[in-house]
Amino acid sequence: MNEYLDQVLTTTRTVRRGLDFDRPVDVELIEQCLELACHAPNGANRQDWRFLVLDDPAVKAEVAGYYRLASREYLARSGAAEGPMGRSASALADRLHQAPVLLLACQLGRVAADAPPAKLSSFYGSVYPALWGFMLAARSRGLGTAMTTVHLAYEREVAQLLGIPFERVTQVALVVVGHLAVPPSRAPRNPVAEVVARNTWRWDCW
Ligand SMILES: Cc1cc2nc3c(=O)[nH]c(=O)nc-3n(C[C@H](O)[C@H](O)[C@H](O)COP(=O)(O)O)c2cc1C
Repeated sequence: MNEYLDQVLTTTRTVRRGLDFDRPVDVELIEQCLELACHAPNGANRQDWRFLVLDDPAVKAEVAGYYRLASREYLARSGAAEGPMGRSASALADRLHQAPVLLLACQLGRVAADAPPAKLSSFYGSVYPALWGFMLAARSRGLGTAMTTVHLAYEREVAQLLGIPFERVTQVALVVVGHLAVPPSRAPRNPVAEVVARNTWRWDCW
């Protein structure tokens, strides 16, 4: 057993307020994390993932503008704005342009929303393991991350901004990266026994 690995797995949280927005992140650190991330499993080992590292202040400001807009719209719609997570999400949206690095993960291709389940699952599922690997590697280097998707409401606009061919490339998630300004804490989760069954489904449908 590797206790350090267990600790990294349980403390890789979504860091929104706890990022050091003033301390730059060395691009070499990002490269190391991406190198590790790209060992993740992915459909047929096609490695159709692509990662855009956004660290130019002007580029980040434009992307952050769309993020803020989408985040405000989402929080207003969901009624979550005043809850703790809504406030934390707003705080991140307000400072996103100051985040040292934004990592935009993309997948080559585009699947229709009504594509067969295996295709849809394999498409998005071929990027998320790499992103989680990136986040774990970042955490082990003293960096904090926040995986986000809310800007995808403006995917087309962000594609145009960054020169991404929208019809042929899908944006999957935007990961915010910065040095941790607070000690890492354990992610609160429901007891695992509540979500595990052996051999037969045991939960009422809702
Ligand atoms: C697919 C996905 C999309 C997410 N999108 C957003 C987002 O757009 N904005 C945000 O602030 N957090 C986003 N999150 C972060 C979740 O809110 C967070 O993982 C969850 O609340 C658990 O937080 P914790 O790991 O710190 O306990 C997203 C997480 C995932 C996995």
